[in-house]
Amino acid sequence: MKQKTRASSRYDNKYDLEQQATLLFEEDEIPLSPQEWQQLGELLEKSEYDHIIGGDANERHSVWVSRYFNDVDSPEALNVLSSDIEAIVMSPKMRGFYQQFTGTKKLCLRRCQANRLQKGDFIGEHKDQDSSPDYFATIVFHFSENYSGGYFQTSDSTGANSQQLQRYKPRARMALVNNCSVPHQVTTIEQGERLTLACFLSTSFSNNKTLPAAFKINRHHDKT
Ligand SMILES: [Fe+2]
Repeated sequence: MKQKTRASSRYDNKYDLEQQATLLFEEDEIPLSPQEWQQLGELLEKSEYDHIIGGDANERHSVWVSRYFNDVDSPEALNVLSSDIEAIVMSPKMRGFYQQFTGTKKLCLRRCQANRLQKGDFIGEHKDQDSSPDYFATIVFHFSENYSGGYFQTSDSTGANSQQLQRYKPRARMALVNNCSVPHQVTTIEQGERLTLACFLSTSFSNNKTLPAAFKINRHHDKT
C-alpha cells in the first residue's frame, strides 16, 4: 500500500480499516522472505482439502479448504502443519506488519485456512464476522495468478464508498487485507486455480461468542 490513509484515533496505526476497508500489499511491502513464501506454498501443496459447499451464515460456496486453526469453541490448532504455518505468519516481524492496520502486535490467529478454487468454484457473499464477532482483520496471502475470474469483491459500506462494489485481483505473493465486518465474495473461477491462505486476526483470545443458531437468526446484512 503506497497510499497513506488517515490514522485511527484509537490507535496510531498507519492504516485505518474503518476508513479504508480493503488494503493491497505488494511482495516488497510484506516482510516474508522468498524462502518463507516457498515454505508456505509447499505446506499448502501437501495439505489435505475438503470440499465445502456452505458457510457459517448459510451462504453458498464451492471451495476446497484446508483448516489449520479454527475457533468454533476457542482457538485451536487443527492439524500437524498448523504450527509450521503459525511460525511463519505470526512471527515477530509479521506481527509488526499487522500492527500497521490492527494497531497492536498482541494478536490471536483465531482462524487460518487455505482456500483452493478451481473452475466453477466460488465463495458466496458473507462477512467474516458472521463466524465470530471477534474477527478484526483478515489477511489473504495469494499463491497463484494464472486463473481467470476469481475476483475478491467487496460491497464496502464504510467511509465515503457507500455500498460501492470493489473488485481486487492480487498477483501471486501479494496480500489483501479486509475489514472483517465488510461483506465480500470470490467470484466464480473461469479457468485455472486460485490458491490463497486466509488468516483471521483478532485482538481477543477468548472463546467464540457466536452460537451457531444466533447468526442464522440475526443476519446483519441483506444478500444481493
Ligand atoms: Fe471471507
